[in-house]
Amino acid sequence: MPNVAALMERTLKSPFLDFVKEVGSEAAAKLAHSVQGVYLVGGQVRDLLLERHVYDIDLMVAGDARKLAAHLAQHRGGQVLAATVFGTVKLEVPGLSADIAMARRESYERPGALPRVEKGDPKEDLARRDYTINAMAIDLWPGRFGTLFDFYGGMRDITLKRLRVLHEQSFADDPTRILRGLRYEARLGFQFETRTAGLLTRDMHHLEAVSGPRIRSEVMRILREPTRAAALSRAEDLGVLAAIHPALRVPKRVAEAMAASAEGTEDLPYFVALMGAALTEEEARAVAARLDPPREWTELLLAGPSYRAISRLLEKPDLKPSEIVEVLSPFPTDALRAQLAVAPPTLQRERLNLYLSELRAVRQACTGDDLIAAGVPAGPLVGELLDELRRARLDGLLHSKIEEEAMVKRRLPILLARQGGEAGRS
Ligand code: CTP
Repeated sequence: MPNVAALMERTLKSPFLDFVKEVGSEAAAKLAHSVQGVYLVGGQVRDLLLERHVYDIDLMVAGDARKLAAHLAQHRGGQVLAATVFGTVKLEVPGLSADIAMARRESYERPGALPRVEKGDPKEDLARRDYTINAMAIDLWPGRFGTLFDFYGGMRDITLKRLRVLHEQSFADDPTRILRGLRYEARLGFQFETRTAGLLTRDMHHLEAVSGPRIRSEVMRILREPTRAAALSRAEDLGVLAAIHPALRVPKRVAEAMAASAEGTEDLPYFVALMGAALTEEEARAVAARLDPPREWTELLLAGPSYRAISRLLEKPDLKPSEIVEVLSPFPTDALRAQLAVAPPTLQRERLNLYLSELRAVRQACTGDDLIAAGVPAGPLVGELLDELRRARLDGLLHSKIEEEAMVKRRLPILLARQGGEAGRS
């Protein structure tokens, strides 16, 4: 078994390196009766072997994970956060956080269901994982430090840049692995190995049985990556999106807009709005129902079809700036940014751009208090006049606070008379 201690020394930065060195020696010295092994596992081992930056630490423990976490928290001046149902604890110590889990075995009752988890040994823990590149462990125990456990050929797959599942039933057991795979493929520039690609096609229909929140969480993880467009286009081409729900689509122009967004930006509402940008209302409602998202997501998805229903108004040649604002202000800004990214190069696009870059921010100079001081009675008239001032500002009819006050003086007697008349009638 190869030893990667030298690679760890070279690749891991402080405080990760001191932490992983100390974990094993502390466990061996102080907890030998309850902990028999500590391993670095999963994505961190993959990233280490790829010499990519490692951000967090995932530890697998043969023995009592909670005891180890509690001991490290005390030793390093950190804290143990809530344990999950799967017996994983989160440890936070100065400079880093670590997920610490007991080695476990998993079984699935039906496709798409959450696994049944039991205590297992390190080999069984690696056997339950998604891809060979994520199914390696590095021993942190003193005397064995740096030993790489690679039972499934993960290192070879890293060299060959390929994604390979560990067994035939992997995607049927957990169809979200398909979405994870698409994310890795785009992020790492890897490819599904032929047999795995065949299993993916065979089993992607199981995605239908996966709950909305689980799918959404994987979609969110894809959207957070700079390579989101490549991953979603591939999901579209392979039929994976349609397997989640027939209405879920990422057409080419949406993918292009996603790809054009600055590399590395994490702009989730904008990307969600882009996903809704090309959908019909019926489709957007169906996608929202399928993903069961928080209210903001539903609004962003539905803003796509609502915008398209009014978009022809923006093509009218003689539209005043205040009218552009009236048409566009009900929409969330992220939804309009998304529409701007996919709009045809017509007046509509110009106006979206004008609204987002200038008109949206235009305000009158007077406040409600100014109006009340000028004699406007507190109540709905204040809001009405403020709106009127803003519209006049937008249309270039007013340029200063003095001009606004003059307009209020001019308009007030008329508005008061109207209000008096309305009160007399009611
Ligand atoms: N894992 C799995 N099947 C899943 C989810 C997770 O086998 N459906 C395993 C993989 O071994 C994975 C590890 O759990 O490497 C940790 O999961 P996660 O943190 O989601 O993945 P990472 O690879 O650590 O992180 P990322 O995907 O962001 O690189």
